[in-house]
Amino acid sequence: MKKKISIAIDGPSAAGKSTIAKMVAKKENFIYIDTGAMYRSVAFYCIKNHIDLNDEQAVEQSISNIQIRLTADNKVYLNDEDVSLQIRTDEVSLGASCVSKYQAVRTFLVDEQRKMAETGNVILDGRDIGTVVLPHADLKIYLTASSRTRAERRCKELVEKGVNCDIDTVEKDIIDRDYRDMHREISPLTQAEDAVLVDSSNMSIDEVVKEIIKLKNE
Ligand code: DC
Repeated sequence: MKKKISIAIDGPSAAGKSTIAKMVAKKENFIYIDTGAMYRSVAFYCIKNHIDLNDEQAVEQSISNIQIRLTADNKVYLNDEDVSLQIRTDEVSLGASCVSKYQAVRTFLVDEQRKMAETGNVILDGRDIGTVVLPHADLKIYLTASSRTRAERRCKELVEKGVNCDIDTVEKDIIDRDYRDMHREISPLTQAEDAVLVDSSNMSIDEVVKEIIKLKNE
């Protein structure tokens, strides 16, 4: 039997991890697992059911009512409802960062992610893939870019959708979220010792995709 290959991409928010991971998955015929979407789904479930995100016990109790499914066409199902778009709001982004602090949430999702990762050649993106979820991944990438570059990219996306954007506010939100993700007690965002650092500040999406495929083939 051929060995299954796993690629872990970690890094701060808005570094382009999911765009890049999706493209690598498509080119290399890998299964893409968006772990951030799973934390977002937990937050969305709590918000929808009026569960206080700061109440760790209440969030923990809700886990047994949550089923998350990621499909091959990159849709996210929460208890059989397609929530792919609803989990992308600013409110849910903040909520995901909040619920991701809780041990019970992480244990539940890491377990699911490991099971999914056994199904074939996989590429996962998140904050703790190379450090916790798949410490033996075949290739680990730590993808980052300056906070200004990330804010500029996020603003460009928003403007393209017809949404007004203040770059300083977007950059501040990104810096705040990085701080929370890097300083939480459990599984904080950090570069794994054996991860390859890719700073995409001065790279195009295609260049990053090529670089990762090159590293994979090495
Ligand atoms: O990658 P994203 O922006 O969709 O992630 C949303 C939040 O979920 C992020 O602020 C931190 C959390 N997260 C995490 O703690 N661990 C992961 N593997 C993925 C996301």
